[in-house]
Amino acid sequence: MPATTVIGTQWGDEGKGKILDLVADDADLVVRYQGGANAGHTVKVRGEQFVFHLLPSGVLHKTKLNLIANGVVLDPEALLAEIDELTGAGYALDGRLFVSGRAHVVMPYHKKFDQVREAARTVKIGTTSRGIGPCYTDKMARNGFRLYDVVDFERFRRKLAAVLPVKNKILQGAYGAEPIDEEEILAQFENFSARLRPFAADTGGMVRKALKEDKNVFFEGAQGTLLDIDHGTYPFVTSSNSCALGLPAGAGIPPQAAGRIIGVAKAYTTRVGEGPFPTEGDGALDEALRKAGDEFGATTGRPRRCGWLDGVALRYVSELNGLSAIALTKLDVLTGMNPIKVCTAYKIGGATHEDFPADTALLDGVEPVYESLPGWDDDLRGCHTFDDFPAAAKEYVAFVEKIAGVRASIISVGPGREETIVR
Ligand code: GDP
Ligand code: IMO
Ligand code: MG
Repeated sequence: MPATTVIGTQWGDEGKGKILDLVADDADLVVRYQGGANAGHTVKVRGEQFVFHLLPSGVLHKTKLNLIANGVVLDPEALLAEIDELTGAGYALDGRLFVSGRAHVVMPYHKKFDQVREAARTVKIGTTSRGIGPCYTDKMARNGFRLYDVVDFERFRRKLAAVLPVKNKILQGAYGAEPIDEEEILAQFENFSARLRPFAADTGGMVRKALKEDKNVFFEGAQGTLLDIDHGTYPFVTSSNSCALGLPAGAGIPPQAAGRIIGVAKAYTTRVGEGPFPTEGDGALDEALRKAGDEFGATTGRPRRCGWLDGVALRYVSELNGLSAIALTKLDVLTGMNPIKVCTAYKIGGATHEDFPADTALLDGVEPVYESLPGWDDDLRGCHTFDDFPAAAKEYVAFVEKIAGVRASIISVGPGREETIVR
């Protein structure tokens, strides 16, 4: 059975959690493979809402195996808090959650570096302050702690004694920040070490075995393609490959095992944090979409910047990821807006571009070229089939499909599991 991969096509928060929970109904395995607790994936089931930061969004299906693979950066405190919360809500995870021993661990100084580096930047990125960038930096610099280094506490103690003095020198000398106390970290991590030990595993081996046995495997991307470190709007990106290209390395599988790739696309666009956003709405549109879509960050609570759908970016993202289909979310939010606009080209310095520029700086000077489509007034949340949609909503979906070059095989019209049309 080919695997299914769910990724974001925009700047994150497209509704990946909801779609993953929906499609993972019959999954044997759900795997998170990049990013960390910067993610916030919302799943709403029977009126109850969960926001997952590190746990795969398949955990509400009680029979499933959930893996956090090697490409994820792991904040032990955040993970254990989530495990406790889920266990308290009746979803015990023992024996059905495993974490790669190769996953790098977010250390207390990573979070501190995230804050002081951001404060020192003249041009801000607007990170989530979860220590993501500094942790991936140390991974690449070969200074990191992997989960295997944490669950063996004596190894952790030895390694920390070598690494922490250098970190503290930089924190104090370069940023004038308070040093981090070694004893405090040791006390905290002795507990993390013991609690995380039963979860540490070779998840890559587990996924490859499951694929060989023809199990039903789902991969859950975090963030979105435009936040990808290589292919996004650098430097206003996250520190991992958050498009589908990050999957093989992050999960430990051969590239051809990615299977069917579903790109989750919000029916309009949002962005949290700094960076270019060609279709960002003026005050009124930004406000109207934020209000109708309840667009506030699931991790940081920050208001999301809002604007019309960017077709130039979607075309690029579809091609880059080799999307098999899109899941179009939050279509209900556009009810009552008339006309609805979609950006189909960029004007940059008088020239018209249909391709997404690789040089992020060019995005600052974009004048979007919009096509206007008729709106509708009907509440889509009551629609159960595509045929229930008003003609204008059908036309909008067809327009987006044409841009993406693939079918919208899932259309979401509300946050709940049941508020979805699968075609
Ligand atoms: P993710 O990071 O991609 O998983 O997305 P988030 O969970 O950060 O943000 C998506 C938000 O939209 C959450 O609050 C979801 O409950 C909500 N949501 C998802 N799909 C729909 C939809 O079709 N309609 C509406 N109105 N809300 C949705
Ligand atoms: P999900 O998985 C939206 C953004 C931050 C910031 C930039 C870098 O819920 O879609 P980082 O802390 O990663 O170094 O921040 O990336 N960002 C997200 N925006 N959704 C996310 O995750 C995000 N994860 C990071 O706001 O602009
Ligand atoms: Mg989110």
